[in-house]
Amino acid sequence: MRWPKNWPIRPISPPPWTRQEPTWRGARPGLIAEALERALARPSGNWFVLAASSEITSAKPFGRHVAGQELVAWRTPDGELRVGPGACPHLGAPLCDAAVDGAALVCRWHGLSLGDKPTAGWARYPAYDDGVLAWVRLDRVGGEEPSEAPVLPQRPPLESSVSAVATVLGRCEPEDVVFNRLDPWHGAWFHPYSFAELRVLDASDFLVEVTFRLTKRIGVPVIARFSCPEPRTVVMHIVEGEGVGSVVETHATPIGPGRTAVIEATIAHSTRPGFAYARHVAGAVRPAMRWAAKRLWRDDIAYAERRFELRKDGRWPG
Ligand code: FES
Ligand SMILES: [Fe+2]
Repeated sequence: MRWPKNWPIRPISPPPWTRQEPTWRGARPGLIAEALERALARPSGNWFVLAASSEITSAKPFGRHVAGQELVAWRTPDGELRVGPGACPHLGAPLCDAAVDGAALVCRWHGLSLGDKPTAGWARYPAYDDGVLAWVRLDRVGGEEPSEAPVLPQRPPLESSVSAVATVLGRCEPEDVVFNRLDPWHGAWFHPYSFAELRVLDASDFLVEVTFRLTKRIGVPVIARFSCPEPRTVVMHIVEGEGVGSVVETHATPIGPGRTAVIEATIAHSTRPGFAYARHVAGAVRPAMRWAAKRLWRDDIAYAERRFELRKDGRWPG
């Protein structure tokens, strides 16, 4: 029986796991390493993804280390993002425990107010909210020519999309995360619960045909392209199939030596009528999306951590 061509889902009957077509011949270490080199050479303007936009509110400061720098982030009453050093310049109290007072933070220890005016050597960092993610610019850490705004991937219109952000911490460096994402060949082997029938259509363009598995026997076939707009970001664009225009952005933020936060934004887009309904129940959809991303990331983080471990010992074959 022919399956209607424009149906978003189709029956699948993948072979037993060990009987799949091996992909190791296509996954040439040199090819992936070259793509990684090209990504690492792109400018970032010294911008780092700090967190999901929704994680930072005016109710309570948010703390995170980026490249060994302790940071604190909060929002002003009108919702503007603020980021600054995370230690109080007086006696070092953690500012993630401070109180938000208007546009400023008030230190719990002795009441020093820190806001838009530089105080005792403490000064805010440039910050940018792209509607899904919060970014900070750290010029001393980045060491590049600073730019006005971060390099953002092409995204579907946020008003007609559902987005979710998942964060996973790993014992590796950002480049290990980027390398893992630039190896689409591992998809159906390493994540058989999520992907089936993966074929790399164009290795130089990282164009991949893959079926997202919904159940054992049903999947959603798509064509996706992977690219790196800047050195710590890998983006998967759905270019054909259900959800064209949707993106998965993987951002790798260095936390400290050998520690990386993977902050992954999924921005799902569809022009199907049912999708408008899904947007209304986005609150219910989001945890499911986050769960799916986390499951993949448990495996992918293990891959990135393994690469880091082998690199450290000079045993990485790639
Ligand atoms: S440590 Fe912050 S005011 Fe004293
Ligand atoms: Fe993966």
